[in-house]
Amino acid sequence: MYRTHTCGELNMSHVEENVVLCGWVQKSRDLGGMTFIDLRDCYGITQLVFDMETNPSLCQQARKTGREYVVQAKGKVRERSNKNKKITTGEIEIEVLELNILNKSEIPPFTIEDETDGGEELRMKYRYLDLRRNPVKNNILLRHKMAQEVRKYLDSRQFIEIETPVLIKSTPEGARDFVVPSRMQPGTFYALPQSPQTLKQLLMVSGFDRYFQLVKCFRDEDLRADRQPEFSQIDCEMSFVERDDILDTFEGLARHLFREIKGIHLEGQFPKMPYSEAIEKYGTDKPDIRFNMMISDLTQAVKGHGFKMFDDAEYTGAICAEGCSGYSRKQLDELTEFVRKPQIGAKGLVFVKYAEEGIKSSVDKYFSADDIFEWADIVNAKKGDLILVLSGEKIPTLTALSELRLEMGTRLGLRIKNQYAPLWIVDFPLLEWDKEMNRFYAMHHPFTSPKPEDLDLMESDPLKVRANAYDLVINGVEIGGGSVRIHDASVQKLMFKVLGFSEEEAEAQFGFLLNAFRYGAPPHGGIAFGFDRWVAIMGNQDSIRDFIAFPKNNSGRDVMLDTPSVISEKQLEELQIKISRKGKD
Ligand code: AMO
Repeated sequence: MYRTHTCGELNMSHVEENVVLCGWVQKSRDLGGMTFIDLRDCYGITQLVFDMETNPSLCQQARKTGREYVVQAKGKVRERSNKNKKITTGEIEIEVLELNILNKSEIPPFTIEDETDGGEELRMKYRYLDLRRNPVKNNILLRHKMAQEVRKYLDSRQFIEIETPVLIKSTPEGARDFVVPSRMQPGTFYALPQSPQTLKQLLMVSGFDRYFQLVKCFRDEDLRADRQPEFSQIDCEMSFVERDDILDTFEGLARHLFREIKGIHLEGQFPKMPYSEAIEKYGTDKPDIRFNMMISDLTQAVKGHGFKMFDDAEYTGAICAEGCSGYSRKQLDELTEFVRKPQIGAKGLVFVKYAEEGIKSSVDKYFSADDIFEWADIVNAKKGDLILVLSGEKIPTLTALSELRLEMGTRLGLRIKNQYAPLWIVDFPLLEWDKEMNRFYAMHHPFTSPKPEDLDLMESDPLKVRANAYDLVINGVEIGGGSVRIHDASVQKLMFKVLGFSEEEAEAQFGFLLNAFRYGAPPHGGIAFGFDRWVAIMGNQDSIRDFIAFPKNNSGRDVMLDTPSVISEKQLEELQIKISRKGKD
């Protein structure tokens, strides 16, 4: 037997027991008469003691044992004189009688400590070592626990876990596909699923009623902190449901996860906010509603005073930062710089300080105190507040105001960790217009149902049609999205028509689904959650990378596996793929 216990379980109740432990040497300390080794495994750390006086050769051996060596220690549990209350094994230590080196280790390229000296790139290259560190390891354990709880909840609600294929046909999710060449049918390609959307709909046609899958999805898109080229979804679909049946079921999942994972009871029903309201009030379809600071429309109030920026603008909007009228020149300059950053893109920032001594703005030349009081009224400002105003094209200005709002929320400490504000965004537009391609695109995907009351507008005013679609947003992060699907062949036909698909094109791309729908498709709908994002939220972090065991970097590379990489000429030949490489054909 390699071990009798793990390094995380011994305590005062085990004193005097003979035990065998295995693990990695975290560090050793040589205090002359005594040598100590902190032995680590994934469960914890146990202190090993070697006494020079009673067993000098063993003590010498312990001194030679380097960091990250894998060892087996046999010995007796004893009470520690110098107790460490911070760890569960801190009251005991092992008086070692035998030490076996199971494997040596080279000196690791960075320290395996909670706070490491390793940079991002190095940690990624040696990810298996990084995963030994508590912060990263605990994230992976959290992910495991979440996965178990997801399965428990969905199983208890009659959801069946069904695997769908990974080598499929391109799915209409909007990002680029990763493709896999076929050897047997040269010149043809599989696509890796951006999501199992069409397959889960087929499972509803099969009559499975409720499906779920923790599933890998692949999207070849630009990467960000909350985006990986391969990521996981909690993918779900249900039959014979309307929107609110779906939302209720998954509010239940959210409640279950917060209760089991965080011990947090989310009170009341999650609020539902129409997309249009989210954009008007928060400038984004994923508002962080842990704090107010909503956007007010000043477009009409500011026009006609000779201030060109406002007069020419399609839209002028403002937020009110409570208690910030005392902001210094430097602080205001910082905010101006913030909104001018290329990612934010505002031209400039107008501000109003509603101070004790009166109201003062950066555009006093153009506006009287009465005019500015009117703005203060609109934005609900009171004495002591600071009003921040941006102006320009409507949507970019709202987006910039949204970023400014988040920045102020962060500066004012309003985005409180461990406070969770879930929100459903509903009634998304069904379609968006692509100026470059001169055509409509489905905002969600082409199988999302229009709201029945908007069906009449499909041909006359398509941009006004609202979708029966919804997103779950928590603390400003889009955690999941879904919709009630079209199950009526004539509505699907109309949708393809508006999207500019000819009947032949629709048949070529989605024939398998349209065919299936000829054999009795039940009314159905569903949702998919970004599993990595949801775990990261539970772990209070913005980046999903450290919640994935082996993630890719920002350029989509796995620096540990050193991939993507070239493949051999032989493989290329078999696939009948010709690549022009430098110096070659
Ligand atoms: P959608 O495209 O909105 O919907 O994706 C669902 C959720 O997946 C997460 N997500 C990502 N997470 C990490 N990295 C990425 N690159 C990434 N892209 C998306 C987000 C998102 O909310 N088939 C539909 C769902 C449905 O209609 O049922 C779909 O995939 O959290």
